[in-house]
Amino acid sequence: INLAPLHTFGFSSKATDLLCIDDLTSIPELDHSPYFILGEGSNTVFLEDYQGTILKVALSGVSVKETDKEYQVRTAAGENWHKLVVTLLDKGIFGTENLALIPGTVGAAPIQNIGAYGREFADFCHSVETINLDTGEIDILSAKDCQFAYRDSIFKSAAMPRTLITHVNLRFAKDWQRVTNYGELQQLPGEPGAKEIFAKVVEIRKNKLPDPAQFGNAGSFFKNPYISQSSYSDLKKRWPAIPGFTINSGIVKVPAAWFIDTLGFKGKVIGGIICHQNQPLVLANYNNGQPAELLTLAREIKRAVKKEFDVELENEVRLMGAQGLITL
Ligand code: FAD
Ligand code: EPU
Repeated sequence: INLAPLHTFGFSSKATDLLCIDDLTSIPELDHSPYFILGEGSNTVFLEDYQGTILKVALSGVSVKETDKEYQVRTAAGENWHKLVVTLLDKGIFGTENLALIPGTVGAAPIQNIGAYGREFADFCHSVETINLDTGEIDILSAKDCQFAYRDSIFKSAAMPRTLITHVNLRFAKDWQRVTNYGELQQLPGEPGAKEIFAKVVEIRKNKLPDPAQFGNAGSFFKNPYISQSSYSDLKKRWPAIPGFTINSGIVKVPAAWFIDTLGFKGKVIGGIICHQNQPLVLANYNNGQPAELLTLAREIKRAVKKEFDVELENEVRLMGAQGLITL
């Protein structure tokens, strides 16, 4: 199976087999054999030929219920996230407008708790329905059980092996509150409605992020690091311009883009892979790039940031080797 059309980086890696899960009865007996669950591959890079089966999630369907105070939305995992955002807005159900244009499926959204422009998936998540691929057991995790954090959830941990998300349940208060305190959204005049916020987010993202259809990429390659307040204060002495967002009294989030930009990596090319000019957190396949070139550039950035700032960058994207996930 050629994986190039199945992940947004577009490397021509292969997998042994592909199974499309389009209804719950099509979930196979896997007998503990290796497999990888795939949505739209927008946060996954296949670096090598994968020695296992790809389970492509294509479960579909959206249903909406309404109470006095809220909308209750149940969505199958294979639905496209952005399409859901548009559908909800059209129905007058507001809340996801800040998360417009994030590629990928609904089922992948809880995995790294997708977030952008001041909102994250956890803000609307009521529960997540799962199936255990070994036992066939069905379960429902409350939002609290999911342990959502910045680009993290229980689904990334060893505590949830062989779990496929089948549906997510979302809740939207009818008493909608706008969130416009992130970056350029603050420039919106007056009291913008959800559709105006949506339009602005789409505009910003189109300006900043490369379209995977044109240049393969998986969004931010690294997470924004959380560092201690004291490390941040030390860095601030040496680099007065360093931005930082206080998470709590002891922890500061620093944009990885600032480290990468400050070290001059913007526009740096290795083979066919580039550190993006507008958004240096994104590494992109601009001219028939190869997995080894991507790894070389990513490791060079990671090493340089560690050396200069003593900060450890972690990859956000899921890097797949022949046997499964790998780290940089
Ligand atoms: P995949 O890449 O297919 O899978 C991602 C992970 O989830 C894998 O580990 C996979 O095994 C697992 N998985 C997928 N579906 C299921 C399931 N049903 N059950 C169990 N496990 C599953 N992310 C953000 O948070 N914010 C952004 O602003 C953002 N911007 C992006 C911009 C661009 C241009 C791109 C290319 C990516 C961006 N991303 C962003 C990353 C990406 O959109 C999200 O991580 C998205 O949720 C991935 O969805 P997917 O279906 O493509 O996941
Ligand atoms: N910056 C620079 N130089 C640059 C660009 C940015 O120094 O060239 C600094 C600036 O200080 C800027 C800051 O980085 O204020 C943050 O930049 P931006 O608002 O573009 O966001 P980001 O930190 O690069 C994060 C998410 C994105 C998400 C945006 C908007 C992570 C890893 N990335 O990016 O998510 O869309 O915020 O909320 O948290 C993704 O996860 O794939 C993704 C694209």
